[in-house]
Amino acid sequence: MILEITMHDHPALRTRGRAVEKTDAKIHRLAEEMIETMLDAEGIGLAAQQVGLPLQMFVLDVPQMKDRPSAMRVDGKQADFEALMPMVLINPVIEPFGRTRIESEGCLSFPGLRGDVPRPLSIRIKAQTLSGDEISFEADGLLARAVQHEFDHLQGILFIDRMSEEDRLQELPEDVRQLARPALVAGR
Ligand code: CO
Repeated sequence: MILEITMHDHPALRTRGRAVEKTDAKIHRLAEEMIETMLDAEGIGLAAQQVGLPLQMFVLDVPQMKDRPSAMRVDGKQADFEALMPMVLINPVIEPFGRTRIESEGCLSFPGLRGDVPRPLSIRIKAQTLSGDEISFEADGLLARAVQHEFDHLQGILFIDRMSEEDRLQELPEDVRQLARPALVAGR
């Protein structure tokens, strides 16, 4: 079932997610529906907040792209991340690292809008999978950016919060601009 995606000022988008206690049948069903919803909307990531449920859980479907490449390492070895997509990550903990780069981002909760967002190029992540196992990997490029964007959602942080005041003025309509919090520092 395709779920309704929460927009702009929906309170769930500003709510820090509760930890997922048990990956039970309900969570499996939710993950399946979030993936279906993300694919239908042609997104590369979707957080539980975006279907109105403030939980520590997001899904990803990041493709390898020539102009915005990604890499994944598991135990220090290159991994075929595309083979792992779509991916469900639960109760994640992340550690961004590396140089900060400004790149364009969008969000399924802000259709048609883009913004320049500074983020570190790489991340380490530890999370649970649907089967209850722990997964940890390092990522670079678009995959690292997508993880940081979705991780932000789980804390109630939106990409518009990380845009510069100048970029907000240029890229966002007044009503959306007013929803943005004071600009955040990259990687925090
Ligand atoms: Co988003």
